[in-house]
Amino acid sequence: MPIEATDDKVELISPENPNTKVSVLLYGATVTSWTIEGVEQLWLSSAAKLDGSRPVRGGIPLVFPVFGKSNAPGFDQLPQHGFARNSTWEFLGRTKENPPTVQFGLGPEQANKEVYSKWDNGDNDFTLLLTIELKPDALTTTIEVANSDSKPWKFNWLFHTYLAVNDIDDTLVNNLPGETCYDQLLAETYEEKAPAIDFNGELDRIYQNVSCEKLLQVIELGKVVHNVERRNLPDVVVWNPWTNKAAGMADFEPKDGFHKMVCIEPGHVHDFITLEPGESWTASQIIRMGDAIKLQAI
Ligand code: BG6
Repeated sequence: MPIEATDDKVELISPENPNTKVSVLLYGATVTSWTIEGVEQLWLSSAAKLDGSRPVRGGIPLVFPVFGKSNAPGFDQLPQHGFARNSTWEFLGRTKENPPTVQFGLGPEQANKEVYSKWDNGDNDFTLLLTIELKPDALTTTIEVANSDSKPWKFNWLFHTYLAVNDIDDTLVNNLPGETCYDQLLAETYEEKAPAIDFNGELDRIYQNVSCEKLLQVIELGKVVHNVERRNLPDVVVWNPWTNKAAGMADFEPKDGFHKMVCIEPGHVHDFITLEPGESWTASQIIRMGDAIKLQAI
């Protein structure tokens, strides 16, 4: 069976290999695990709450309608990263048998009322459609955001992807030199000069308007371990909490687990997207197994 659904999650299994599979929790429509031939590609905290009591720490949480905290009118009451990751989505069923593909939906009826009511006073009618496709070597997550309202509204979108690595000390992320970066820790904007991003402390940066032609590669000891492709997602957040920040997060375990992860988060967060009534917006993240290093100049 390529697709197995229970009350709280949906599993897609590759017809090519039963150990290539993805598990999606209805809470947040959060991908909590993705294995290729038995090898886990995502990081999930061992203390992650999977019972709907708080957003999942790890996997691929979904960020909508705001990234981080915002003072913008209509967004200033929302908690960090909005309400998509703490709402229980509806499983809409399978759209393709091979490659196994499923869809999930979220609208005002399913949204976590307490949080949703803090976005423009819960007055925005919206539809989110998430499509997840499992190929033998790749996972594609596609989001469609539609305005079902009679007035325009604004939003951010981000896939908050926690990629698994063997050791963050040996990890590099390429193809970002020359890009404009807002460093959330320094509260400064600058041009990235490093030939590749390396990790030796807490890092929290938003690379803005990075051409979607650019492939982002996570490289360990000279070997590509993940390729991240983007469609219509110009911004890339790179995050690792390191020792102190991980220590302060109750649901981050083991405490030295930051050695085993890096967040590469494709999104549209440098400004808000405005959707007019009846309009929709679509974007995708494609994570692919490693192959050759590809260097792309700006
Ligand atoms: C990242 C942000 O996307 O998410 C960080 O850039 C933030 O600033 C991190 O700390 C985790 O956020 P949260 O709300 O899941 O703890």
